[in-house]
Amino acid sequence: MSMSTPAPLHTQDDSPDLVALDKLIDEQEQIFLARTARSRELTEMAQATLAGGVASSWQDAPPGTVWIERGEGSHVWDADGTEYVDLHGGFGVNVVGHAHPAVVRAVAERVRLGTHFAQPTPDVIPVSAELSRRFRLPLWRFNNSGTESTMDAIHLMRVAADRPKILKVEGSYHGHHDTVQISVYPDEGEAGPRERPASVPSIPALPKPFADLAVVVPFGDLAAVERALAEHRNEIAGMIIEPFMMNIGLIAPPDGYLAALKELLHAHGAYLAFDEVKTGLGLAAGGAVELTGVVPDIVCLAKALGGGVPCGAIGATTELMQLIADRVYEQVGTFNGNPLTMAAARATLLEILTDEAYDHLARLRSIMVSGAEEILRRYGLPGYVVAYGAKGAVIFTDRLRDYRDFLAYDDRWGNAHWLYQHNGGVFLPPWGKCEQWTVSVQHTEDDVHGFVANVETFASALRGDAPAAIG
Ligand SMILES: Cc1ncc(COP(=O)(O)O)c(C=O)c1O
Repeated sequence: MSMSTPAPLHTQDDSPDLVALDKLIDEQEQIFLARTARSRELTEMAQATLAGGVASSWQDAPPGTVWIERGEGSHVWDADGTEYVDLHGGFGVNVVGHAHPAVVRAVAERVRLGTHFAQPTPDVIPVSAELSRRFRLPLWRFNNSGTESTMDAIHLMRVAADRPKILKVEGSYHGHHDTVQISVYPDEGEAGPRERPASVPSIPALPKPFADLAVVVPFGDLAAVERALAEHRNEIAGMIIEPFMMNIGLIAPPDGYLAALKELLHAHGAYLAFDEVKTGLGLAAGGAVELTGVVPDIVCLAKALGGGVPCGAIGATTELMQLIADRVYEQVGTFNGNPLTMAAARATLLEILTDEAYDHLARLRSIMVSGAEEILRRYGLPGYVVAYGAKGAVIFTDRLRDYRDFLAYDDRWGNAHWLYQHNGGVFLPPWGKCEQWTVSVQHTEDDVHGFVANVETFASALRGDAPAAIG
């Protein structure tokens, strides 16, 4: 999502489906607002002291912020006391679910022993060792968020290569530091040609040099990377990439793309950093590294690693990490390796997100994928379902390969689906077509059957109760 509320991305095509979606959205928004009355009151009270009435801008999603009272297992309860199956997962954090007993135990034990010293505590050793094993990179450092992870990764690539520029993919979000606030969700009119996208600042008043330092390429297009490396010869330190795009729905890399990218970058003296803030631990125990077999020079983690406690980490090759060990690049932060975070991360990695846990996620995922796909076919709706590990999305368009396809994908589909899920008791992340579901190890088959049932309620409302005889 962009730093401001994403502009409506309606296409110009006002087909009968889109007209019907407008009507359904209006109806469902009224139901949503009636169900969340206490949230409206809290938002109004908060506005007196909190800019926009929320702690972070994306918590305020249309048609209104939902305030949460508590979470337990796979469920959350909002301020009106309404219970939901939680597939929002706190924007992909809660692969462990809520108040998992192992996290509660680890955090409670640690709280009693003091929560911050700015000196290492022994938990950093098993946590970094387990990350080395999963992500096949030998050395690690900690920080506190995805933003800090991608910032550290880019600093490190620049120091190692002694070059100023980076390559990034159009439509990728890597956090809110200046270097990566480029072409996150550019408008069609300013985005430039598909093969050679413009570098468009994503926050107001970003000084122009930041745009000049980020060279933008389309996802999955090796020729564009090759051209950029040639045109900016000896200037590009490295490329940061979401190996599976996860801020414009869910897009897997084309076969062989990531391996070829690594080879191409290395041939030009540049590095490859995987932003696995969403994919790491979410798609598989070892994230995109495990799924694709490609080990980049740097992996950035955050989100699921802390089991619900703020966290971040980078792993890298010995060559790159030597620059940190030698203090050429001083990777620092008051809260890095915070004892509470490390205790929660230890429980998350060693006790909860085990191989058996990923088997459980696979069983739930197959119910969601086969159930939702069968409904799309039976009702003749466009699209498909894509899912890995704990993550997945219903994509209501036939083709989503990169940001330009995403621009053409009408956001009414995602909005209407989100509202039907919400009003049907399943809390998906807001910003319908950008986000994915997150299933946790504490979800049950009943939970995910609820999701599938809501897909059918939506499909039948759109197409009438009599399904088209398709498929
Ligand atoms: C791929 C990716 N990278 C980085 C970030 C930034 O993480 P954080 O919000 O923890 O700073 C996000 C956040 O959603 C993300 O999706």
